Amino acid sequence: MARIKIYPTAHGLARAAADRFTSLAREAIASRGQFFVALAGGSTPRRLYQLLTRDEFASNLDWTCIHIFFGDERHVPPDHPESNYRMVRETLLDHISIPEKNVHRIHGEIKPEQAAIEYEQTLVSFFASNQGSEISSVTFDLVLLGMGTDGHTASLFAGRSKTQERSCFVVSHFVDKLQSWRVTLTPFTINGASHVIFIVSGKEKAQKLKQVLEGPYKPDALPSQSIKPNRGFLMWLLDAEAASRLSVKKNNLQHHNNE
Ligand code: 6PG
Repeated sequence: MARIKIYPTAHGLARAAADRFTSLAREAIASRGQFFVALAGGSTPRRLYQLLTRDEFASNLDWTCIHIFFGDERHVPPDHPESNYRMVRETLLDHISIPEKNVHRIHGEIKPEQAAIEYEQTLVSFFASNQGSEISSVTFDLVLLGMGTDGHTASLFAGRSKTQERSCFVVSHFVDKLQSWRVTLTPFTINGASHVIFIVSGKEKAQKLKQVLEGPYKPDALPSQSIKPNRGFLMWLLDAEAASRLSVKKNNLQHHNNE
């Protein structure tokens, strides 16, 4: 069952997401000494990542215990304006003291199929050596996701594609709509996470968000619906504009301090 929290403004939404990120990281580090997170690309999370560099959050985060992964990447070099890695580097990584070995980017600069194979190997060997699991299981503590105006998430777009693979953690595929290649975690991987948090802002998302959250289950058409964690928790953090078409009770409105 997904939990939905609605905030009056995009800023309040970003602060709430920064709070959730920080508390999940502190919990994981307190219990296991580590926190493994896959970050979302796009533009919505920029504000969240910038907040995490602020003392009020950074002082509560031990970045030496945090490993950063990526939910997806475009087929571009890491310094390209469209690179998710570049966005995360500019908003977060350049402003915190995180060891380079703790940042695991998808190599958008190489052939997508090869980038997907390499990232899969990175995940399997990392989690095998850091989670001590015999079988190759990939369990993020947190996966952050955005949602596009078409209901996609990560680089999971409408239509049957390899992304529905249940036998692999990472796939590459050509996205007709964008006429470009993408590398993405599969729903199989994301649904294995302990916590999955969608961050959705803006009135342009409202209609599609209503279909995703309240409409019929059609994950081929609405890939965000394919995100249903097996054992973990799913949370939707929304601003009032994105949530404006939902029938969810207004008392779900959360006020965040420092609004
Ligand atoms: C990407 C993201 C993608 C994003 C949505 C929402 O690579 O673009 O992984 O899934 O989260 O498209 O993007 P905005 O936050 O920019 O609306």
